Amino acid sequence: MSISKKNIESTLSQIIYPGFHKSIMEFGFVKHIETEADTVRITLDIPSHAPEVEAQLRLEVAQRVRLLGEANIELTITKPPLPRETSSHGKNVLPKIQNFVMVSSGKGGVGKSTTTVNLAIALAQQGKKVGLLDTDIYGPNIPRMMGIEGEQPVFLGKTIKPLQAHGIKVMSIGSLVERGASLIWKGAMVTQAIEQMLEDIDWSSLDVLLFDMPPGTGDAQLALAQSLPVTAGVCVTTPQKVALDDTIRSMDMFKQLHIPIAGLVENMSGFICPESGKEYDIFGKGTTQPLADAYDTAVLGEIPIEPAIREGGDNGMPITILAPDCETSKRYQQIAAKLWESMMKVNTEGGVDNSAVQPTIF
Ligand SMILES: Nc1ncnc2c1ncn2[C@@H]1O[C@H](COP(=O)(O)OP(=O)(O)OP(=O)(O)O)[C@@H](O)[C@H]1O
Ligand SMILES: [Mg+2]
Repeated sequence: MSISKKNIESTLSQIIYPGFHKSIMEFGFVKHIETEADTVRITLDIPSHAPEVEAQLRLEVAQRVRLLGEANIELTITKPPLPRETSSHGKNVLPKIQNFVMVSSGKGGVGKSTTTVNLAIALAQQGKKVGLLDTDIYGPNIPRMMGIEGEQPVFLGKTIKPLQAHGIKVMSIGSLVERGASLIWKGAMVTQAIEQMLEDIDWSSLDVLLFDMPPGTGDAQLALAQSLPVTAGVCVTTPQKVALDDTIRSMDMFKQLHIPIAGLVENMSGFICPESGKEYDIFGKGTTQPLADAYDTAVLGEIPIEPAIREGGDNGMPITILAPDCETSKRYQQIAAKLWESMMKVNTEGGVDNSAVQPTIF
């Protein structure tokens, strides 16, 4: 047989793991490749238990290897030994923290960090003990948004004490990494940094820890879902039609990682004029509802474009602190309440099973 192991590796490196941007080779899911007589044996070890993920990979591997030459293909796909029906059933390695929320988006710059900060503060204002972890190694924005840029956390031996701002505990992985050094980080290093950070930060007891994620679907998301039982996923999107594809990718990622989806936040949804208080529709509004319906979830709320939100982010004074009674802060409060309700539902009912929901092509 003329198919070489090298050719197989190269063809497998073109197979993108469903719902993500990286190939099964880059993720390290290809565990074994062997060629013997006219047989090619491949073993993949994947994190998802969703049947459609396995089916898609089987099809793609068969199609691609066949293009290399005639061969019997024996493909073994292994999965984690303890199937987690939802991520919320995973083992909690941080037992003093009751709930974990992953805030994600398919696209960068849609307002993930802004949303995470204001939801964290709103939850704290509702009496919850809240922590916020910025996992964006490449572009940490949380320290500036929370007004603690340049402040260094206290190290007690190997343990790191998180900083405190606006009533919540805050830690940013990026602020612990030498500036610029992370830009060349490869996937495995990101995974390792996140796992390490989870072990080393002493949050003490929390009702909820929110994770501000880097944009897209990648190593940080995978590392977290594999390390912790994520109680709820929140997807931040904007109302432009062009954002839909990215949002779908983000929702599919939650599904594949078995993270119960609490819902979507439509950010930059309309504009409230600071002078008149009147609301204008700029990018279109309400485009998120069909997507929420397709994934059997909810639009948790719509946040307008508002200069005070950006200024608050730049000055370390989030709008929920600066103007807690304004319309936008009230909306953050409502979203936070719905998010909490959704988490409590996951805790009592054992999580929503997203696996039956088929992604819809728009
Ligand atoms: N509703 C809003 N009204 C006005 N400005 C906003 C709003 N939401 C976010 N912004 C501003 O838009 C910019 C991008 O927001 P943010 O940093 O929260 O996005 P992100 O999705 O976290 O970006 P990244 O993908 O780079 O992490 C910031 O300057 C922020 O202040
Ligand atoms: Mg961000």
